[in-house]
Amino acid sequence: MRLLKIIFSVTILFVSFTSAQNANFEKKIDALLKRMTIEEKIGQLTQYSGDRKATGPVTFKGDSEKLIREGKIGAMLNVIGADYTRRYQEVAMQSRLKIPLLFGQDVIHGFKTTFPIPLAEAASWDLEAIERSARLAAVEASAAGLHWTFAPMVDICRDPRWGRVMEGAGEDTYLGSRIAFARVRGFQGRGLGNVDSVMACAKHFAAYGAAVGGRDYNSVDMSERQLWETYLPPFKAAADAGAATFMNSFNDLNGIPATGNRYLQRDILKGKWNFSGFVVSDWGSIGEMAAHGYVEDRRAAALAAITAGSDMDMESGAYRDNLAGLVKTGEVPVAVVDDAVRRVLRKKFELGLFDDPYKFSDPAREQRELNNPEHLAFAREIARKSIVLLKNENRTLPLSKDVKTVALIGPLAKAVRDNHGFWSVELPGVDYDKLIVTQFDGIKNKLGSDSRLLYAEGCDVDCRTDEKFAGAVETARQADVVILSVGERANQSGEAKSRSNIHLPGMQEELIRKIQATGKPVVVLINAGRPLVFDWTADNVPAILYTWWLGSEAGNAIADVLFGDYNPAARLPITFPRTEGQIPIYYNHFNTGRPPRGDDSTNYVSAYIDLKNSPRFPFGFGLSYTSFEYRDLKLDKKRMRANDKLEVSLKVTNTGRLAGEEVVQLYLRDRVASVVRPVKELRDFRKLALRPGETKEVRFVIDKEKLSFYDQKLQWTAEPGRFDLMIGASSADIRLSDSFELVD
Ligand code: BGC
Repeated sequence: MRLLKIIFSVTILFVSFTSAQNANFEKKIDALLKRMTIEEKIGQLTQYSGDRKATGPVTFKGDSEKLIREGKIGAMLNVIGADYTRRYQEVAMQSRLKIPLLFGQDVIHGFKTTFPIPLAEAASWDLEAIERSARLAAVEASAAGLHWTFAPMVDICRDPRWGRVMEGAGEDTYLGSRIAFARVRGFQGRGLGNVDSVMACAKHFAAYGAAVGGRDYNSVDMSERQLWETYLPPFKAAADAGAATFMNSFNDLNGIPATGNRYLQRDILKGKWNFSGFVVSDWGSIGEMAAHGYVEDRRAAALAAITAGSDMDMESGAYRDNLAGLVKTGEVPVAVVDDAVRRVLRKKFELGLFDDPYKFSDPAREQRELNNPEHLAFAREIARKSIVLLKNENRTLPLSKDVKTVALIGPLAKAVRDNHGFWSVELPGVDYDKLIVTQFDGIKNKLGSDSRLLYAEGCDVDCRTDEKFAGAVETARQADVVILSVGERANQSGEAKSRSNIHLPGMQEELIRKIQATGKPVVVLINAGRPLVFDWTADNVPAILYTWWLGSEAGNAIADVLFGDYNPAARLPITFPRTEGQIPIYYNHFNTGRPPRGDDSTNYVSAYIDLKNSPRFPFGFGLSYTSFEYRDLKLDKKRMRANDKLEVSLKVTNTGRLAGEEVVQLYLRDRVASVVRPVKELRDFRKLALRPGETKEVRFVIDKEKLSFYDQKLQWTAEPGRFDLMIGASSADIRLSDSFELVD
């Protein structure tokens, strides 16, 4: 009781301190706004890229130092490093009002220490680890002078052709929302104002992941229901976690570019969700509204964007050139500009930059944090957690460390930079080739001195010729086991890296066939930034690990899994199609009026006549070196009222010989509703660690929120009726089920 009282009083003290501090900031902003010229205000809404690196088409080639000195630039991107940021900040301190600059950067999966690509991390289903990954990235980035990361990307994606699928958390709204929350918390740590916290930026608002045909920057056309139900919730979760900023998006949504979309930015984000941070445009996206054909020119683009609630202009220069004129003619009320400026200044105050503009630019801290061995140790841990075991026949894995001869074959076995994955940070003067543990090195580190590691490339990633196949087969013949490392290059996924053909590139699968024909045990490692198609391999090769792009410690993490020092426990956060013709494919589809019964029923049912309906690997799927049994499902009631909580419990036992982790997944289906509902929807999950023979009880609580959806009037509601409850090891492997009723 005493402890509770203390916690209560501390919380009250903290809340009153924060609101007093906020009121104080608002007063300071009022005072500052009064002193600012319109040009200086627009400066706060203008962001440019530094001269060392560009992450989009460069449109601005002016003298940024001069503009900063004149108060005409408020934020930079692609300016990294304690010294380099300090240099720019010194220039800002020569401006009339000495308003500090913000430095933003795409810190997407780690900083100097690279963690797995976000899609891989999502496969860990480990929210604590995902939060820690963002935390450590923020610790490093903030030590290198940065205040702001353009992450997390929280776009739901049901189309693996889209190159940016690697940057998000996959296809599922529930999992994606939990991960969005964890990532924002990780980046912002104990809150803005702490020197190791950076502002998060939920992007791309909104629906960018649904680009038609999976082609980057393409249009999005979707129903309001799908927008609210599937695409917006991760953004809401990011806002709830306190994301300081949002980024809008390149796509148009139902005919209106997201950047000029008032409904998204003003009505939903700043209105309904009461978001007090600021919105930055995507790179050049304000100017690009003319190319969309939404506005005549950049002046009209600036008018549309600021009116719609896009506060900061990244790189297009449309605000710089036009906003003052638009205010002068009265087309843009000065209050609209003031509101945008206030939002930006508020964050600068919250970060503490007005007290000390150089507080993040500390070379000693930079030196320490960028070389912190704990970060590398964590990189190995989260990389192992991200590897999905897709197949393991005849207990091919784990391999014995005493194996005499291992052949490592394939175009990616010695890959260096690829392991960083797309969207990794490049620090000037850092030799990244030395920072990566390759698969070859990781496996070599693991083998005893009596073992031999042979290597053959087989072909390069494009694999257009079989010239080197014979040599690879010869190498395989000399070995006791073959590890084949195939996949796509890191830069075949990411921004502007959509692919129409997502098969293993070139003749890679032909190489796999040749090696498999030697009769040696074969383990295939697939490196990729998206689900790839590899049907023959999936049918014929005994063991497959999906290794994505795992970052600095990739090779060690993969070797840990190959040789059983870590028991794989990742689960797919996205459905793997059999072939591109099934796309878009996702587990939470509707039933239709003519659902097929299994893969073989095709006549007058909703199916293909030349392709199965089922995916190659379903959402939530992943194997372990041990096995788990589910039993004793109990519901504490079979009928619940809207304000009841229904308790679900079950037992899970590790029935194998190795310790391992299981991801217990809870799916629900609303049998009949005023709008049709998916065949199942993930609504909760638990990741459990179990020793051999150990049993644990898992408990879930179902409340009204978990049963709710958008009804015909788009009201968030739960309708009375019967619900199916499914507990599974994946979306397609339901182990226990029951049903219950929601009553009035
Ligand atoms: C991307 C954003 C990114 C920005 C800055 C754009 O091209 O769409 O996600 O944050 O560039 O690099």
